[in-house]
Amino acid sequence: MAAQTLTIVDNRTGKKIDVPIEEGGIRATELAKLGLVSYDPALLNTAACKSKISFIDGDRGILRYRGYPIEELAEKSSFLETAYLIVKGELPTTSHFRMWKHNITWHTLVHENLKQFIEGFRYDAHPMGILIGTVGALSTFYPEARNVMDLESRRMQTRRLIGKMPTIAAFAYRHSRGLPYVYPDNDLSYTGNFLSMMFKMTELKYKPDPVLEHALDVLFILHADHEQNCSTTTMRTIGSSLADPYVAVAGAAAALAGPRHGSANEEVVHMLHEIGSADGVPGLIKQVKAGERRLMGFGHRVYKNYDPRAKIIKRIAHEVFEVTGKNPLIDIALELERIALQDDYFVSRKLYPNVDFYSGIIYEAMQLPVAMFPVLFAIARTAGWMAQWAELVLDEEQKITRPKQIYTGYDERSYVPLDQRRDGGALEPEVSGPL
Ligand code: ACO
Repeated sequence: MAAQTLTIVDNRTGKKIDVPIEEGGIRATELAKLGLVSYDPALLNTAACKSKISFIDGDRGILRYRGYPIEELAEKSSFLETAYLIVKGELPTTSHFRMWKHNITWHTLVHENLKQFIEGFRYDAHPMGILIGTVGALSTFYPEARNVMDLESRRMQTRRLIGKMPTIAAFAYRHSRGLPYVYPDNDLSYTGNFLSMMFKMTELKYKPDPVLEHALDVLFILHADHEQNCSTTTMRTIGSSLADPYVAVAGAAAALAGPRHGSANEEVVHMLHEIGSADGVPGLIKQVKAGERRLMGFGHRVYKNYDPRAKIIKRIAHEVFEVTGKNPLIDIALELERIALQDDYFVSRKLYPNVDFYSGIIYEAMQLPVAMFPVLFAIARTAGWMAQWAELVLDEEQKITRPKQIYTGYDERSYVPLDQRRDGGALEPEVSGPL
């Protein structure tokens, strides 16, 4: 059998090392034997952990949670059951599922003080900003959450976070609309209760439309985990300092808030409104190809094929439209996809629709406001963040995350007194920097 090693020769010195290959990887620390670091901006080819949670084959468009194909879970499971699978590692038995459901719904209420905290935000605050701040504030309500090595504490915070995220999210929305908060209705399903907290007005009991409730549940399943994406990496990085999971989730949600990640669906809807009709598609494609803008909802760091989640979302869009009426943006999106997938710019770069391309169109049809799109993503992703965080905390190979850098700044120089410096603060003719 061939040796399971990689031989590296430093041609500057002739020094040679044999590096063991384990599970398709080599340890970057081996390079230290040659006095080298591995330089990998944006961690394009660096595995920072071993994980048993999500599997992605980006070339074949495959996503599995704990081994189960996303298509099967979307068709047969529910969000709460999938969250159990992600967090615990196995599908629940009937009694375990009953207990899990009870434990999550038990924690849907938030402390009354938290309402006052939300009141402090400006009347027009973006709900994602409110969510990030408020989930971070939960840390002060549960100081025992700092016992991250304690199993019972980890379980309790997981239930609380999965239970309370929809409540905080809905309160954030109601605040931004000046509407009274609606308390959780634990007779309803996870997504039915969320819709009730969002949309209930004066009626005694809110009855969610079963098709919309189910569509949202499927969307939550599709967003529940996605291996080492930007926000999950943030969750793990914060978790590696042994900070409590509330501040770690706040940080992960902050990473999700950017337009390259969880806010892309917001951007897609803005983009589709801006072009207005299918006639605007060629003009947009031209701008994208000229490098003037990106086609939002297209492209993915890992998927170099159709994102399997986008395929499922496209299907459920039609179920939603049966109830809500067709969102005219779908025709523009379909035309955009059709043209893009024939165009060499997109084909050669393997740019396909990602999960965000169609999700915003469904949310909009369901009357969910655009600013809430990343918030919906955060609710669902909390299950994945918690599972990944627990995996990190228990991983004996992990330490505090602390990457290397390659220093490209000044060599040592002497301090120049203020009155001897030129305008701009340095001896250089002009100081131009990133800030
Ligand atoms: N539109 C136009 N061109 C694109 C797009 C896009 N959406 N995405 C990538 N490209 C081009 C780049 O310009 C680059 O071309 P070049 O080689 O000629 O310079 C090439 O494709 C590779 O792009 P990178 O930026 O290197 O790809 P990366 O893996 O870093 O980025 C990302 C992935 C951020 C998702 C990117 O595709 C993008 O910005 N997409 C739009 C935003 C989006 O939809 N984000 C949601 C992602 S899914 C999620 O987070 C849930």
